[in-house]
Amino acid sequence: MPNLLHLDSSADTATSRSRAITASFADAWRSLDDDHTVTRRDLHVDQLPHLSDPALHWPARLRLPGAAPDPAAEALQAELIAELTAADVVVVGAPLYNYTVPSTLKAWLDNVHLPGVTAPFDGDDQQPMLGRPLLIATSRGGSYDVGSPTEGWDHAVPVLEQILGSTLGMVVEVIAVNLTLSGQIPMPDGARERAERELSEALVAAADAARRLG
Ligand SMILES: Cc1cc2nc3c(=O)[nH]c(=O)nc-3n(C[C@H](O)[C@H](O)[C@H](O)COP(=O)(O)O)c2cc1C
Repeated sequence: MPNLLHLDSSADTATSRSRAITASFADAWRSLDDDHTVTRRDLHVDQLPHLSDPALHWPARLRLPGAAPDPAAEALQAELIAELTAADVVVVGAPLYNYTVPSTLKAWLDNVHLPGVTAPFDGDDQQPMLGRPLLIATSRGGSYDVGSPTEGWDHAVPVLEQILGSTLGMVVEVIAVNLTLSGQIPMPDGARERAERELSEALVAAADAARRLG
């Protein structure tokens, strides 16, 4: 039973573009056949607490003596890790907020990145997500084109690529839409057209990716 973990983090539950793209992926995944299941976690609607104790970054055997993180926080973390490792494919909606990921998504990252459990540290078989596909659907109010003055200002995709790709070992694809604020604030000629074109293309690309990865 191929299982998709569908994550969203946009605070906009009505017109979000990252949510539209992840939904396109999840709908296409469900349409493949009844065996294709979806586990849904909306990180904005059901917000996770921030990590309450640095000991939670480590499994019990690697913690400092005397560490005693809250058992409820540990149980939640175990649930999040089990949910992740039960996923054959992950799709994550990641809007750009203050040049990085929403704090709701960061709280999830802080919970699931554990050296020696989900990331290599001191032994073999410590990368349960190795080789599994991850689609990042990112939406940005502005644009961060190569060669433009804002190139490199997007710190959301790089941190996801680092943690979930390089560290946890997932195979990352990115679908990005830009200039999403062109309907709200003044922007140069052609911005709205580009934004709408990118969204249309992204919805198709997400559905195609689900069919390819499923
Ligand atoms: C708190 C907040 C911070 C934002 N910071 C940025 C930013 O740093 N750069 C940017 O291009 N857009 C920024 N935006 C605009 C969002 O990236 C844009 O609206 C995007 O489409 C949100 O994703 P969504 O459509 O999935 O909700 C910000 C929006 C919010 C709500």
